[in-house]
Amino acid sequence: MSSVAGRRVVLGVCGGIAAYKAVEVCRRLVDAGAHVVPVMTAGASHFIGETTLSALASEPVRRTLWDGADPIPHTRLGQTADLVVVAPATARLLSAYAHGYSHDLLTNVLIATRAPVLVCPAMHTEMWEHPSVQDNLALLRSRGTHVVEPETGRLAGGDVGAGRLAEPATIVAAAEAVLAGTVPGATAPAAPSTTGPMSGVKVLVTAGGTREPIDPVRFIGNRSSGKQGHAIAEEAAERGADVTLVTTTDLPVPDGIERVRVDTAAELHRAVVAVAPACDVVVMAAAVADFTPTAVAPDKLKKRDGVPVVELTPTVDVLAALGEVKPPGQVLVGFAAETADVVANATEKLQRKNADLLVANDVSAPGVGFEHDTNEVLIIGHKGDQHHVPFAHKRDVARAVMDRVTAVLQPAGRPDEEMT
Ligand code: CTP
Repeated sequence: MSSVAGRRVVLGVCGGIAAYKAVEVCRRLVDAGAHVVPVMTAGASHFIGETTLSALASEPVRRTLWDGADPIPHTRLGQTADLVVVAPATARLLSAYAHGYSHDLLTNVLIATRAPVLVCPAMHTEMWEHPSVQDNLALLRSRGTHVVEPETGRLAGGDVGAGRLAEPATIVAAAEAVLAGTVPGATAPAAPSTTGPMSGVKVLVTAGGTREPIDPVRFIGNRSSGKQGHAIAEEAAERGADVTLVTTTDLPVPDGIERVRVDTAAELHRAVVAVAPACDVVVMAAAVADFTPTAVAPDKLKKRDGVPVVELTPTVDVLAALGEVKPPGQVLVGFAAETADVVANATEKLQRKNADLLVANDVSAPGVGFEHDTNEVLIIGHKGDQHHVPFAHKRDVARAVMDRVTAVLQPAGRPDEEMT
């Protein structure tokens, strides 16, 4: 049974072109058994009809503080909610919520409620990337607000970029995860402990996507955000491990984790080989480029000189190289982002690269893998054992990965031959 079944969900809908998707979010929540109370802002009415949402929800749409007989609808709605979902959440709503500007029913409900809140931003890329929006979101996250980040794709007006509302299935899955308690609070990561079950274990984690320069302003990159690798590093540190994180991102890192900032596959390779031999666990979560430009143009390539032909050279496969010289007892974990034949491809990678565990995901599924806060993975062991981690926040996936790692490590940080 879905964790939203029988729960009271206030669904806030703001004024944006993505408001039409809120209708599908509403329908899916109701289908899953939730009691959905829709609240539309004045702007939302420009995009969808109140009648549509009222017909699909469990109660008629609420729009202002003044309609209906209840003199304090915001307090009642906020107090009785088990969850408040805002989809789409506009830049204005995020700003008002972050700063306590309670100018309409929805912002009043958000400030009055003590239930968990899940915001699903959607806006044009320029707005999404603006520091004011990102700062408001960071503030909300630091207070525990859950966020389903927008996706990259076609936006209103034909532009393509980040800012498109996440798919309704992703939003409902996130709502279920919040109510199931499988999403940790969106608070800043706790400082790592110096004691714990992994105390004395040395762990190396790589995270993010490498950038291979073409000229001083351009690079070949990939969509990895580094969030999963960072979550694994944080989880290992919280268990008391001594963690080095080789990362291509500037995501925050708790005190106590040693961060090594790299950009290219070659830099990542150098950083990893310097640390890996002394480690008990190496987790290669980074999306390392398979090819790099053979030569980097010293000056920016100019259009007037014609379409450039960029010759590529294969990079070192860092995971495979580590697999070839793996010290006895080291646990080597690889990742595989696949779009088809996940088990077969991942199993082949595990064997070819001599890894002990391989974390595979189907990045074509909604809300899974690159750029999302959520993931769904299959952890494959070298004996072919499979452990499915259902759709969850990346920190919960990190917990499952570290549980599997711990299962193949002996207490002193050495592997259990029985198990391997
Ligand atoms: N990897 C690596 N060095 C590379 C490429 C990949 O260490 N140059 C590691 C990744 O960190 C990941 C694993 O290998 O842990 C799988 O990466 P992936 O790109 O999925 O595998 P490929 O070997 O590139 O296989 P394919 O191109 O067939 O998908």
